[in-house]
Amino acid sequence: MGRYDGKAALITGGTSGIGLAAARLLIERGARVMVTGRTETTLDAVREVLGDNAVAVQSDASSLADADALADRVRSEFGALDVLFANAGITRFAAFETVDEATYDEVFAVNAKGPYFTVQKLAPLLNAGGAVVLTTSVANVKGMPMVSAYAASKAALRAMTRSLARELLPRGIRVNAVSPGPIDTGILTRTIGPAAAAQAEAGMLANNPMQRFGRPEEIAEAVAFLAFDASIRPNHAGPPHCSARYPELRSAVAKPFIVSRMPRATSSESSPARRRRSSSTCI
Ligand SMILES: NC(=O)c1ccc[n+]([C@@H]2O[C@H](COP(=O)([O-])OP(=O)(O)OC[C@H]3O[C@@H](n4cnc5c(N)ncnc54)[C@H](OP(=O)(O)O)[C@@H]3O)[C@@H](O)[C@H]2O)c1
Repeated sequence: MGRYDGKAALITGGTSGIGLAAARLLIERGARVMVTGRTETTLDAVREVLGDNAVAVQSDASSLADADALADRVRSEFGALDVLFANAGITRFAAFETVDEATYDEVFAVNAKGPYFTVQKLAPLLNAGGAVVLTTSVANVKGMPMVSAYAASKAALRAMTRSLARELLPRGIRVNAVSPGPIDTGILTRTIGPAAAAQAEAGMLANNPMQRFGRPEEIAEAVAFLAFDASIRPNHAGPPHCSARYPELRSAVAKPFIVSRMPRATSSESSPARRRRSSSTCI
């Protein structure tokens, strides 16, 4: 028996890189997974690779009409969802002075507006105790050159993760984000070509404490943890302030899941401890 038998997950941008690695892992552990992408040939290839427990759907993550259609498809295929992994994203490399309006709008449409409305349209299908995971990036805090629009879009996503965590809390739905550093998915080469990618990668490696790129499978493990395993806390009473602030949660927190925000710092805790405890929605 798999750990996630009987569970259903939707992964946007699940046909490549991090999303595909997450799809493989969840399926390997027993879940049924719907993946989305834009490119029909890639979707066909992914249907072969992932097998019968996967449904691959063409859907543009920046389109609200596609998000509505995706919700209909999830309803007809799965009935309901346990996990929504809003992962689809694009990178655009350009010096700040050269970024035009179309590029800025494209990046924000896919990386910020897309996940926002995907969560809005799909959240009604999430079971209580379910989870949303979003993919932001270490660029949301690092001040990296050549990716100003991308970094800003991922910072917007980080901010909305925190608000959505609060808004979905009464339904017992946890909302978290992963913030990967550079991951070896080929996204750079596909975006800017091999020569420029090699140069950019050398710079990233030099600034990376691990001195290597991460692998998509490593991020997939973190996603699976946030999606499922972080909720398994038998006998966990839940953060006291949640049930106090949201009376409707009193019965829910008695069930085995943890919520996205940590308990409030006590008055005896130092400021750094308070800061650590209040920034728990992104890993
Ligand atoms: N790789 C890194 O170093 C890194 C670091 C931090 C954060 N991230 C983030 O991680 C996520 C995945 O990145 P990755 O490196 O795995 O990229 P990837 O290998 O290029 O995969 C991107 C996936 O998103 C899909 N996608 C892109 N735009 C889409 C759209 N408008 N609608 C629907 N699907 C769309 C792609 O499908 P199509 O090919 O069909 O478009 C593909 O399935 C992104 O949000 C990215 O910003 C990546």
